[in-house]
This record gives sequence, structure tokens and C-alpha cells, in this order.
Amino acid sequence: MTKKNKAYSKVKIVVTGGAGFIGSHTVVELLEAGYLPIIIDNFSNSQPWIIDKIKEITSQTPIIYEGDCNDKTFLEEVFQKESSIEGVIHFAAFKAVGESIIKPLDYYKNNLSSLITVLETMQKFGVKNLVFSSSATVYGEPDSCPIAETAPRKISPSPYGKTKTICEDIISDTVNGCKNISAISLRYFNPIGAHPSGLIGELPIGAPNNLVPYVTQTAAGIREKLTIFGNDYPTDDGYGVRDFIHVVDLAQAHIKTLQYLTKHKSPFYDVFNVGTGKGNSVLEIIETFQKVNNTNVPREIGPRREGDIATCYADVSKIKKMMNWETKKTLEDSLRDAWKWQKSLK
Ligand code: WQD
Repeated sequence: MTKKNKAYSKVKIVVTGGAGFIGSHTVVELLEAGYLPIIIDNFSNSQPWIIDKIKEITSQTPIIYEGDCNDKTFLEEVFQKESSIEGVIHFAAFKAVGESIIKPLDYYKNNLSSLITVLETMQKFGVKNLVFSSSATVYGEPDSCPIAETAPRKISPSPYGKTKTICEDIISDTVNGCKNISAISLRYFNPIGAHPSGLIGELPIGAPNNLVPYVTQTAAGIREKLTIFGNDYPTDDGYGVRDFIHVVDLAQAHIKTLQYLTKHKSPFYDVFNVGTGKGNSVLEIIETFQKVNNTNVPREIGPRREGDIATCYADVSKIKKMMNWETKKTLEDSLRDAWKWQKSLK
């Protein structure tokens, strides 16, 4: 069998935003699971050299198309060229909570329009399976934790979060209306860490919004000190509590979701939480990071950040039951891998 034929015997999956943080880790897991990922990325929030690192990890070169999911002509050209696509994993979106408050129209336009263009292209080319990158932020301030998928979605404090809620509805309405697409929204909790190889990881542009990249940059001396946004929350130690999941565990959940989707013959829509099912406080993150990496994180206590909630962690019994997926990595693994990645960036 020639290489070309062999390549086309693999199941093709389009990965929009496939050069990004979660996207690149998912592409690695797809390659290692024997899929043929087709990356679509405009590199607005990722680096082209990540593709070379994916090749270094997997000894396989992913197919990549540089372009924007809002560009219908471009997207149709890709779907035309790459026939018999089995499914799409849609990561491509703006994702900075704070920025979305300053630039709401950019977020609504980009995040909603890119999804709509992807769905229209899927329908045109008969692509039947979609995995959507959603977020626990759709729960807003939960009434209780752990949070199950049956918990009510609440108005998210940010336009970013609101776009995730609206996108979930666009997808469920499309599935119910057109009867030829199945879709699953994965509600991520807090993705952290990096690939154990240290070759790919999170690449925040400018000062990180999220906790763990700020911790690693502070430990590396790039930031003077970490500001902890409040330690007067109604939690055991007063610090914010989140469900911090290793990005490789999260990536592997996408493979399980694809397998689950393609097993179903009739179109359906569903949502699944993806987290560890455990909550850790900001202080626990910092102290665990210092311990496993034998390093120090200079820090101060500042005021609460607007829009932050006290506690958020997942009930993950549904994905465990329906897809037999659960996290394999520990918090220590996540923080060790995050530090290894940060040190590789010097
Ligand atoms: C975690 C905890 C902060 C930074 C957001 C989005 C979610 C997803 C992940 C996109 C909180 C505290 C943080 C800092 C701090 N988004 N913190 N100092 O806000 O739970 O979730 O990011 O991918 O959709 O909502 O994550 O990492 O920003 O904050 O004290 O410099 O760390 O107050 O308690 P968050 P986070």
C-alpha cells in the first residue's frame, strides 16, 4: 500500500484552532490514536512552530491549512479538497475573558460567525459529527458544587462566556432542525499544564489572564509577583476554588467523544462536563507548584477580580458513565509539566 493510500485509510478530523493550546494537544492525541487531523488555524492566537513540535512528538506531520473559519470560501475549499471528513472539533474562538468585556462586538462576531460558517460548511459537505469547545463558564455562579450538566446555565459575567452559551444553543438548534449532524458540547473546567515532552503548551499573548501561566512566569522571573485575587471567599481556606484539569487528559476526552459520537447512527445533541471532579484552591495550586518544582512564587493578596466566583468544580459522572473517560493525571503532574514547558521557553 502506498503512503498516500495508507494516509487516506485513516479517519479524517478537521480541527479548527488546532495550533492553539488545547487544539495542539488534541492533534497530538488524534495522531497517536491513528486519526488524520486536518488543522485549520489563522495563527491569531497561536504560533506556526507548534506544528513542528507536534511532528517532533508524534513523528507525523499534520495537514494544516492557514486561514479563518469566518472565511466561507476558504473553508469550503478545504472541505472540497479533503473529502470524506468524519468530523470536526471546533476550538477556534477568542477566549480572553477580560478582553471580551472591552471588545464585546469582536467576540460576538468572531465566535458566533465562525461557528455558523463551520456548521454551514459541514451541512454542505455532509460532515456529520461536531465536537464543540464549550466552557464551565456557562454555569455562571453555580448554586452548588460539584456541578452536573443538569445545572441551569446562568448569565455569564463576560461576553466570552455568553458566546459559549449562545454557541451551544446554535448547535442544539441546528441538530434539531437539520437532522443530519450530531454534536457534543464539552464544558471544560480549568485546563492547565502542558505535554510531558515540554515541546508544546500554553502560549499566552502578553500578561496571562489565567492563574497557572501567571504562576509559571512569576517563578521564571518574567513577572515580578503573582497577585492573588482575593482570599476572603466562602471556601475552606478563603481562596478561590477551581477544577484544574491536565490539558492532556482534556485532549484525550475529545478522542473518546469522537468515538462516542460516531457510534450513534441517528443525529443527537448532548453536553458533557470535562474536569477532574475535584476542587483545589488558588493557595493549594501555588503551594503544590512550589513543592513539586522546588521553586518559589513571589506573591501578594489583592482585591477580588470582577466576575470571579468562589467555587467551581465538576460532577464528571456523566462522561465517566457514557464514555468511560476520567482523568489519569494528578495535579502534581499538571504543575510539573507546566513548569517544564515554561523553562523550555527561555
Ligand atoms: C482561576 C483562579 C482567580 C489569575 C477562566 C474562564 C474559563 C476558562 C479558564 C478559557 C480564580 C485566581 C487568577 C491571577 C489569581 N477560559 N487568579 N491571580 O477565571 O476560573 O476561568 O479561564 O479558556 O472559561 O472563565 O480561570 O485561571 O483566570 O482563575 O488569583 O493572576 O485563580 O481569581 O480564583 P477562571 P483563571
